[in-house]
Amino acid sequence: MEYKKVNNIKIPALGLGTWHMGGTLIANHSNDAEYIEAIKRAIDRGITHIDTAELYGAGHAEELVGKVITNYDRKKLFITTKVSPNHLLTKNQVINAAKNSLRRLNTDYIDLYLVHWLPPLLYHNALKNSMSAFDQLVEEGLVRHIGVSNFSVRQVKEAQELTKNKIITNQVEYSLLNRNPETELLDFCVKEKVILTAYTPIAKGRLNNEAFKILHEIAKKYKKTAIQVSLRYLLDKENVIAIPKMTSEAHLKEGIGCLDWNLKKEDQEILKNAF
Ligand SMILES: NC(=O)c1ccc[n+]([C@@H]2O[C@H](COP(=O)([O-])OP(=O)(O)OC[C@H]3O[C@@H](n4cnc5c(N)ncnc54)[C@H](OP(=O)(O)O)[C@@H]3O)[C@@H](O)[C@H]2O)c1
Repeated sequence: MEYKKVNNIKIPALGLGTWHMGGTLIANHSNDAEYIEAIKRAIDRGITHIDTAELYGAGHAEELVGKVITNYDRKKLFITTKVSPNHLLTKNQVINAAKNSLRRLNTDYIDLYLVHWLPPLLYHNALKNSMSAFDQLVEEGLVRHIGVSNFSVRQVKEAQELTKNKIITNQVEYSLLNRNPETELLDFCVKEKVILTAYTPIAKGRLNNEAFKILHEIAKKYKKTAIQVSLRYLLDKENVIAIPKMTSEAHLKEGIGCLDWNLKKEDQEILKNAF
């Protein structure tokens, strides 16, 4: 596994996303066996970073992750989860949300705890409450590292001023089809030693489309697939990690094939100009 390092913290460069596992906004138990198998398979193939959230399946995605990780050496795993904006009204609500996530995850610590996104109203209060709660959770050993998600550069700076701990990631949408982070956030992350975690990194599989001819041509040159090149484009950036959802065995195998090689600078430029 490749890692990216900030503040002496090693984070696996490729993680497993879990949005839609166990439902969307409400729990759906009908495909539990399939998702448990998918999470287990990913860990068995070396994907030790799992990304989830209290919101996913109204907590059921965390429960599925919890069912699997209890059978593994916890120290070898890196679990990210997120507190929902509706729990940022008071510090206590954030602390309770974290404790509920811990219970569902069947674990006594969260490796990386994120604010999922900031509510547009009262966002200063939400930021203060969450950073103060995060500091307490770290102090109590319930959370190892803290981060944010869907934050602008300005919001990351504001959040950092409100916590004693280092914000080690901002998780945002980033793929060849959405290169917005390249305008400002990516440079900021490199300068401030923050990991940019790319979500929806393969644009939900759309990057596989034959219409992206240049992507397929580059893939052919490296004996890789369009999806592998799309992920490699992200991982070749300093400080970027990616967390695709890969439920099927074939998708997992293909995803893992993005690791441990590099795109030449000239091909990175071609992709940059094409997308
Ligand atoms: N912080 C946030 O606000 C936020 C927002 C969105 C997502 N996320 C996180 O980021 C993770 C990834 O994002 P995402 O799930 O939105 O999108 P994604 O990872 O870009 O795409 C996932 C979709 O692509 C399919 N897929 C996987 N590998 C493929 C391949 N090699 N070829 C073709 N299709 C492939 C998956 O199918 P199968 O699963 O059936 O294999 C799934 O349908 C989420 O699961 C979640 O953990 C965070």
